[in-house]
Amino acid sequence: MDPMRNVLADWTKTIPESEIRRLLKRKTKYYLAGGLPGVLPTKVFPKILQELAEYYDKDEKNVINEFQYGQTAGHPGLRKVLAERIHNNDGINCIDGEDDWEKIFITTGSQQSIYIALDIALNPGDIVVTPSPAYLGFVTSVVKVGGHVVTAPTDTEGLIPEYVEDTIIKAEREFGKKVKMLYVVEDSDNPKGTTLSFKRREQLYNIAEQHDVIVICDSAYKEMQFEEKIKSMKTLDKENNRVIYASTTSKEAAPLRVGYTLMPDILFTEAEKAKGYLDLCTPTLTQRVAEIYYRKYIDQYLPSIVQEYKENKESAYKALLDTFPEGIFTNPTGGFFIWWQPKGEKAFSFDVAKFNEEVLLPNEVLVVPGKAFYPPKGHSYDPEAREIEPLKVISGGMRIGYSFVSKDLIDEGVRRLGKLLSEQI
Ligand SMILES: Cc1ncc(COP(=O)(O)O)c(C=O)c1O
Repeated sequence: MDPMRNVLADWTKTIPESEIRRLLKRKTKYYLAGGLPGVLPTKVFPKILQELAEYYDKDEKNVINEFQYGQTAGHPGLRKVLAERIHNNDGINCIDGEDDWEKIFITTGSQQSIYIALDIALNPGDIVVTPSPAYLGFVTSVVKVGGHVVTAPTDTEGLIPEYVEDTIIKAEREFGKKVKMLYVVEDSDNPKGTTLSFKRREQLYNIAEQHDVIVICDSAYKEMQFEEKIKSMKTLDKENNRVIYASTTSKEAAPLRVGYTLMPDILFTEAEKAKGYLDLCTPTLTQRVAEIYYRKYIDQYLPSIVQEYKENKESAYKALLDTFPEGIFTNPTGGFFIWWQPKGEKAFSFDVAKFNEEVLLPNEVLVVPGKAFYPPKGHSYDPEAREIEPLKVISGGMRIGYSFVSKDLIDEGVRRLGKLLSEQI
C-alpha cells in the first residue's frame, strides 16, 4: 500500500494551485500576465553588496554578529529606516516617538505578513470583507486559515464605501456573526489598478470604526505612484489599534523579499510568535542590503523607475482605447495593472481563462483571467438585490499587466489583445 495515500491535509484538496503561479511558467512574447517588476535598479544592488564586503573586511571581528540569525521582528537598523520613511512620506503619526520604530515588523515579503495577520486574527468561520475582485494571495490565504470571504463591489475608483457598509450589515445578519476584517488596497489595487480617493479612505475607516472591524491596509504599490500620493487611512488610526498597515520592498527592490508592517500593539507579540513558526527570522543579509538601499539610494533611483512604468501604462492605455470592444476599464495612476471587463452580463459569462488558452496563447499573448482573483469559496454582496448571494465571479474580466513587457512591445501586445478580443465579443 502506498504510504503517501493519506498524507495530504484536507485544505490541499479544496484550494487549487494559484492561477498566476501556473501562468508564470508560460512564456509568450507579449507577456501581460505576471506582475513582475520589469524596471529595477539592477546596478545598485551589486554596488551595495560591494560596500558591505568592504565594511565586513574592515571589521572582521564583528562579522560573526552580522552573519547570524536576527531578531524575529527584524533588523533594528532596517526598522528605523522604514519607520522614518513611512512617517515622512505617508504622514503616519503613530510612529513619531523615539522608540516607535519598534512597531515595525519585518517579514519575508508582505505575503508573509498578510498570512501571519490572518493566522493570528481569524478563527474558523470568521468573516472577511474584500473587494471584488481582490489580490489572490489575500483571498486564498483567508480560506486557507479557515476564514469566510464575502466580496464587496468595486467601481473604477475602487471599493464603494456605501456598499461595504451594507455588505457588513447584511453579512452579519445572514451569517449571525460579526464581520471581523476588511481588506483594502488603497493605492493601485491588484488586480484593478484603482486608487481610493482620500474621501473614500476616510469613509471606509469610519465604517470600520462604527462596525468594529479591523482593517488590513495593503500598501504594496505605494512607492509606485505616477501622481501625488494620497495620505493613507493609517494616518487616521492615531492609537494604532484599528489598521494593520502592510507594505513591501518587493515592487521597487524585488530580489530582497522584505516586507514591513506597522502592527497594532496588541497584535505585535502574537505576530512575532507566528513568524517564529514560519522562518525564525527574515534573512539578515538581505535586510542589511534593504537598509542601505532605503537609507542612501532609493530616492535617487525611484523617480526614473516610476516614470518608465508610467510610460508603459500610457502606451497600454492608448492601445486599449484604440482597439478594445466596448467595456469597463481602469486608467491607473500607479502600480502595474489595468483591468478590463465587458459590459453587462458578459462580465459574468465570458470565460477569459478559455480565451487565454485557446486564442491568446497561440497568438503569443497572455493575461490573467478575472476568476483568478476570487477565493475557492465564499459569498458576494449583490448591489442590486442589496443581499448576500453565493460567490459571484467576474470571469469576463482580465488583468492586463504592463510592468514586465518591454516598452517596444507593450503597444503591439495590447493592440493584438484588443483585436482578438473584438473578434471574440
Ligand atoms: C496587493 C499585493 N499585496 C501583497 C503582495 C505580496 O507582496 P510580496 O511580494 O512582498 O510578498 C502582492 C504581490 O504581488 C500584491 O500585489
